[in-house]
Amino acid sequence: MAEEQGGVPQFALGENARVHHLIGVISGKGGVGKSLVTGILATEIARAGHTVGILDADITGPSIPRMFGLAGAHATAANEQLVPCTTAHGTKIMSANLVLAAETQPVLWRGPVLGGAIKQFWGDTAWGDIDYMLVDMPPGTGDVALTVFQSLPIEGVVIVTSPQDLVSMIVGKAVNMCAQMEIPVLGLVENMSYATCPCCGERINIYGESKLDEVAAGYGLPVLGRLPIDPALAAAADAGTFEDDLPAGLLPDAVKLALSLPELEVSEQEPEAPAPTMAQRAAAAAAEYKAKKAAAAKAEAARAAAAGEDVADMTPHEVR
Ligand SMILES: Nc1ncnc2c1ncn2[C@@H]1O[C@H](COP(=O)(O)OP(=O)(O)O)[C@@H](O)[C@H]1O
Ligand SMILES: [Mg+2]
Repeated sequence: MAEEQGGVPQFALGENARVHHLIGVISGKGGVGKSLVTGILATEIARAGHTVGILDADITGPSIPRMFGLAGAHATAANEQLVPCTTAHGTKIMSANLVLAAETQPVLWRGPVLGGAIKQFWGDTAWGDIDYMLVDMPPGTGDVALTVFQSLPIEGVVIVTSPQDLVSMIVGKAVNMCAQMEIPVLGLVENMSYATCPCCGERINIYGESKLDEVAAGYGLPVLGRLPIDPALAAAADAGTFEDDLPAGLLPDAVKLALSLPELEVSEQEPEAPAPTMAQRAAAAAAEYKAKKAAAAKAEAARAAAAGEDVADMTPHEVR
């Protein structure tokens, strides 16, 4: 039976799919580098020799396919399941952009449909065996983020922040959302933390001294890394050459932590049986009543036969 989280049934994983780790990447708001961090983790974990999947849960702002050279690609279907697209280096990706006719087509879906898309990307997708599934979350604490948190067995999240987020406490919203949903936070990554002077290599703290250590300590969370503002990262993401061009050694602590997480395996779960309707309950009660009456009549006939009574008149009437 599918496990429940806060009374909400969990989405079941599809037939033959296995996910050994499921890590979400979230932020308090958009544009802070969630997809970049998802891409870095996915690329580094794959480089370490693991099978990786990315479930792009940012349905209205998907950017994972383009980063991984899959702009314009389309997911296919086989045996009534979606087949994720596979990158040049073997990472499997499912994203709204892979099921839309064109990358520029806007997603004008309302909440329930968005939730349905998450369900399909998880349960109706032929993922196969995935060591690490990363979920690129939609920004903020909205409907889709809630659906992912309640319906997928997320083992932990990485929270991506920017220097301004730390000051404005936007990161606090993400931390508190996780606490309320009882989702473990693995730690914080500060993106756009600093820049490196192209001439002398000096580190420039554009936003002043980082507050990351202080804020992380305040929440009792580990710092999992800092990323510089680096036009080469944006260029690789835009060009779709991320897997090849990503410099090695970014976010080593985050990668190390992910690789040291205890094994969790999610495989096909029994789908939740739908609650019976009133009519079905009434039919079941009637059938039970009928069976009981028939059994009682049969027992009475057997008793009378044993006692040598004439049972001709005691044949059970058809019970209604
Ligand atoms: N550290 C960075 N250096 C350079 N460009 C970055 C950096 N982080 C993010 N970007 C760029 O900023 C944009 C937003 O980043 P993205 O990861 O898509 O944010 P989010 O997924 O949180 O909305 C993208 O174009 C991305 O390439
Ligand atoms: Mg994004």
